[in-house]
Amino acid sequence: MISRMTLAEKIGQMRQLSLGEDSLSDHVTDEIRAGRTGSVLNVVCADEVRELQRIAVEESRLGIPLLFGRDVIHGFKTVMPIPLGQAATWNPELVKAAARVSALEAAACGVNWTFAPMIDVSRDARWGRIAESFGEDTYLTSQMGVAAIRGYQGENLAATGSIAACAKHFAGYGASEAGRDYATTNIPENELRNVYLGPFRAAIDAGVSSVMASFSDLNGVPASANDFLMTRVLRHEWQFDGIAVSDFNSISQLCVHGIAEDDKEAACLAVTAGIDVEMAGDTYVSFLEQLIEEERIEESKIDAMVANVLRVKFRLGLFEAPAAEEDDLAARVSDDALRVAKEAALQSVVLLKNEGAVLPLAADRLASVAVIGPLADAPYEQLGTWIFDGDPGLSVDCLSGIRKLVGDRVDVNYVKALANSRSRQVDNVTEVMETVGQCDVAILFLGEESILSGEAHSRADINLPGAQAELVKLVRQAGKPLIAVILAGRPLTLSNIVDDLDAILYAWHPGAMGGEAIAELLFGQASPSGKLPATFPRMVGQVPIYYNHKNTGKPPIAGEILHIDDIEEQAPQTSYGMFSFHLDAGSTPLFPFGHGLSYAEFRYTGIRASADRLAIGDSLTLSVELSNAGQVRAEEVVQLYVRDLVGSVTRPVRELKGFRRVMLDPGQTVTVQFELRSQDLAFYGRDNRCTVEPGKFRAWIGGSSTAELECEFQVIARD
Ligand code: BGC
Repeated sequence: MISRMTLAEKIGQMRQLSLGEDSLSDHVTDEIRAGRTGSVLNVVCADEVRELQRIAVEESRLGIPLLFGRDVIHGFKTVMPIPLGQAATWNPELVKAAARVSALEAAACGVNWTFAPMIDVSRDARWGRIAESFGEDTYLTSQMGVAAIRGYQGENLAATGSIAACAKHFAGYGASEAGRDYATTNIPENELRNVYLGPFRAAIDAGVSSVMASFSDLNGVPASANDFLMTRVLRHEWQFDGIAVSDFNSISQLCVHGIAEDDKEAACLAVTAGIDVEMAGDTYVSFLEQLIEEERIEESKIDAMVANVLRVKFRLGLFEAPAAEEDDLAARVSDDALRVAKEAALQSVVLLKNEGAVLPLAADRLASVAVIGPLADAPYEQLGTWIFDGDPGLSVDCLSGIRKLVGDRVDVNYVKALANSRSRQVDNVTEVMETVGQCDVAILFLGEESILSGEAHSRADINLPGAQAELVKLVRQAGKPLIAVILAGRPLTLSNIVDDLDAILYAWHPGAMGGEAIAELLFGQASPSGKLPATFPRMVGQVPIYYNHKNTGKPPIAGEILHIDDIEEQAPQTSYGMFSFHLDAGSTPLFPFGHGLSYAEFRYTGIRASADRLAIGDSLTLSVELSNAGQVRAEEVVQLYVRDLVGSVTRPVRELKGFRRVMLDPGQTVTVQFELRSQDLAFYGRDNRCTVEPGKFRAWIGGSSTAELECEFQVIARD
């Protein structure tokens, strides 16, 4: 195909037109007819897609079909929980099912390329895009990213309903300074390889069709001009043969970054680095021919890039079936989209606290509940950040979910109390107090509206916004059992209210079926089983705080850390020890990574390794006995962590190496096993090569990253 293409046609394949209302304008159709664009962005009307595809296939000289790209991030028509919530399910199969539903719905509208999953390791809750991520951990993000890719792309990329996925944003975007979106990132190569690149490597091994360059600059070079990332790592080391796409207009922005003088230089830098497709910009169509004439870029380089684009089109089967038949797709849009959305919402909710087992509520023993707060009846806000195509009509709000569940058994009295999540004033104070005073229990629906997280929506203060904390204090005065359901796009700092609340259900933005799922969890029709995919700081000043930090030479010793209030005046500088911590926040988070309670009571005993020694190339089994000592059937997410006690570079205090959802009846005990291959212990050492280093390792198995049950084994070189 490439040998038959003119240079202009080749460059056309490297351009992605961003369309809106104008998708069928003469300008657009002319560009397609002339072969001057290989893909388009944001057309989601099946008829328009069919028409544009018809023009490309029938009226352009070579009949090369188009790619139709769209951000299908957490659902299409049926909105799923935000990715951070999906990560809290610790259930890759469910993440895959959610992506599958989204792919089917999107494909029905002609989309054949999604810009998901976002697999940026995100350790900063200020960053608005943490909502789109799978959280702070490399391993969890890798597992979830691969699951999402399998869901979007299906078994066979050419099958109807499969769409190309895109691993983004390559790379290190999650480390944006101060959690400010688009900001600079500085990540040493060793940390880059050990923390940020892992999920991308896993995505490529899983056959992801495309990779998107990040907006941000990494160690001084924006990703769209970063040949270390885009060529050395992606192509040479990982042998990626799909599409590398820029982010929206990010090539032209190389000038804004101050790394290119003008668009022509920007295009030259981006092609040299290895960006195959320019999203939403015109630097390639405007300048590549000239750059080749001037011999600054070789045409063979362009050929290789075009080949990457065409390869994905072939794999998608577009040359045989450029657009799916309407009937074919209509039949395939699955009826169980809402079932998947509900299951994902159910499993994503994390029970952070449940003092005195105030939850679950017993509908048969309650006369009335007060439902208070700005997010109780907020069907739109619960959907979360990326909902371009979401159908708000499908959204079941929390108040309706509760009313439907309790029927006429329980009086449900609702007061909104704040106009929205940011309001600085509690309205109807008297009504709030009277309502709560008359009820058996109060449920507060708090958090962030969807607009407070996502792209370009970072926050420096991550407390509950507005007067919500004030509302909590007010309602507390009524002395009733007090439950908070928090809907938010990020971990919030909850220190100022945590002691006022008897129970906290953290629901993220749970998507369309959030209301039904939350009602079922509140009233015990299901037990919470979500676990935190990101650490919850006590104070924003602790950020970045994450479980797999390094030990330092002066780790804090529990019980020996003082608090600012306890310091004597003029105490000598060293009198309270020399540890790595904050005087006012201590060293621990409010809730650790992996934390999440249940209505059951899980007990772990008898951790063991199948062998004391693990020869490189072999594997061993780590196991534990897990019992349900509670009264209800429930699911637990069992987590395996490992520490490499001595390495050629300092190693994290713990690293997640496995997890599994296990359902247990009351009284039931099971043995949970994890197979650990020596290869799972590999990391990038001092020479930045990936190796397994012999030595002593410690393993923990339990219900969070603070699990205490431990054993040790030794990794030995092969004889
Ligand atoms: C975002 C990408 C997204 C693209 C297209 C950009 O602003 O960073 O994640 O895929 O827009 O909408």
